[in-house]
Amino acid sequence: MALIETKDIKKDYLLGETVVHALRGVNLTIDRGEFVAIWGPSGSGKTTLLNLIGAIDEPSSGQLLIEDQEVALLSDNRRTELRNGSIGFIFQGFNLIPVLSAVENVMLPLQIKGTSFPEARDRALSRLDEVGLSDFVRNRPDKMSGGQQQRVAIARALVTNPSLVIADEPTANLDSDTSRSIIGLMRSLNEKEKTTFIFSTHDQRVLDRVERLVRLEDGMILDGGDKK
Ligand SMILES: Nc1ncnc2c1ncn2[C@@H]1O[C@H](COP(=O)(O)OP(=O)(O)OP(=O)(O)O)[C@@H](O)[C@H]1O
Ligand SMILES: [Mg+2]
Repeated sequence: MALIETKDIKKDYLLGETVVHALRGVNLTIDRGEFVAIWGPSGSGKTTLLNLIGAIDEPSSGQLLIEDQEVALLSDNRRTELRNGSIGFIFQGFNLIPVLSAVENVMLPLQIKGTSFPEARDRALSRLDEVGLSDFVRNRPDKMSGGQQQRVAIARALVTNPSLVIADEPTANLDSDTSRSIIGLMRSLNEKEKTTFIFSTHDQRVLDRVERLVRLEDGMILDGGDKK
């Protein structure tokens, strides 16, 4: 059973009087445990596609199946459960809460799920340790570098032990060393914990670590839509 299957997904945005065809019929199958990069120029539809896969947004037409369940047919509760429980999302530009410290940011998804404070804190600290930030747990985002903020965002996405992590441009705006180490970290979690990673990038430097490359252009998949 595929983890993710999109069937002829289209997404249109209405921009004033004009319709923007952001996705024009995307067929993509991703299995559990894969490490997949979505590669494409700016405006090709990467963020749109990842938001749909993460059940954050809905397609204009076509079907999205997660574990053979059609997401559009799920109740709101079930969809929220799926989003909060099985999927970790790393947004383009991190989306950390500026007034919260690193550890408080990472604890948040657990607290939303009702995990007790001590357990949430322990799990957040252990994820922060794993991404190499044990000395920065009390820092607020504005007291951290871009790479450190990105690590907090990764720790926050992983803290619920999701089976799928979706990362939108996880290495954008990072220097070469930091971007290589972020991808290395994701890759080792993929190998060690079998977490499925789907991430978008137009970063040439990370491609040697990628198992499968899906090329997107003008809202269409050029190649890589099926597993080799
Ligand atoms: N909310 C929106 N309203 C209108 N048009 C949108 C909206 N979001 C995206 N678009 C348009 O849809 C297309 C795909 O955008 P998307 O953000 O998915 O591209 P992207 O590949 O993520 O680009 P980037 O590399 O710059 O992040 C673009 O033409 C964009 O202008
Ligand atoms: Mg984008």
